[in-house]
Amino acid sequence: MTAALKIPASIDMSAYWLPYTPNRYFHQHPKVMQSAKGAYYYDDHGRKLFDGLSGLWCSPLGHADPRIGAAIAKQYETMDYCPAFQMASEATFTLASRIVKMAPKGLDKVFFTNSGSEAVDTALKIAIGYHRVMGNASRIRMIGRDRSYHGVGIGGISVGGMVANRKMFASMMMSGVDHLPHTYNLSQMAFSRGQPTWGAHLADELEKIVAFFSVMSNGNSKACSSTFGSHGCNDDRPEVIIHILRRDYNAGASFLDFTSKRWI
Ligand SMILES: Cc1ncc(COP(=O)(O)O)c(C=O)c1O
Repeated sequence: MTAALKIPASIDMSAYWLPYTPNRYFHQHPKVMQSAKGAYYYDDHGRKLFDGLSGLWCSPLGHADPRIGAAIAKQYETMDYCPAFQMASEATFTLASRIVKMAPKGLDKVFFTNSGSEAVDTALKIAIGYHRVMGNASRIRMIGRDRSYHGVGIGGISVGGMVANRKMFASMMMSGVDHLPHTYNLSQMAFSRGQPTWGAHLADELEKIVAFFSVMSNGNSKACSSTFGSHGCNDDRPEVIIHILRRDYNAGASFLDFTSKRWI
């Protein structure tokens, strides 16, 4: 076991409340970073630490790349910030168009947020709001997965499946959310290459949840399917839209992979 590091005398740690961190333990065993370059952090003891998490996924292109620094400085000098309510900057339109070019056909609108948590809560609101204005206010069910993490917002925690993150806030969780089983099984998946062959049966749970609400609908399959969304009253098949955002992070490389599919 390594000896506890000395708290740097120059740092008052009392005011800052670190998220997802046992703060009292941290105060006794602080990890204080002082600079970063490329794929490495340098701490207050001069140690060079490989940033295997890419700054918890906020620095996928590495730290202190001079090209990124120059681009930030250029934009700052041109216009540091432009509100998004009732106005916009040229750069925002340009970025949205570039993202649409990278996205699969049909995903042609961009809504900017400040974090994954905000993005997830916003996406849930857009889905619910869309069906409501289309006259389908009963399409309200969300399906998440056990153990999944979708951020710290109330919507993200509700569709997420991390028990420790939910238990304090049970009274605040969104209604109408079901969870599929998680897919991790070490005994079945260890040492597999590529996509493991085991686990396809877990996807059948989705059919079971849809079927369950079909039974709950008192024989009115149209009303029932509209719980998940259907194409109008002439089609009582439930429409399930599955959104999977896969993010591959690497210190030095960044990939954004859109996988959004619709099964009917
Ligand atoms: C799938 C998913 N949703 C939401 C989030 C929350 O993102 P953020 O930490 O930027 O709020 C994460 C973060 O890891 C995530 O992986």
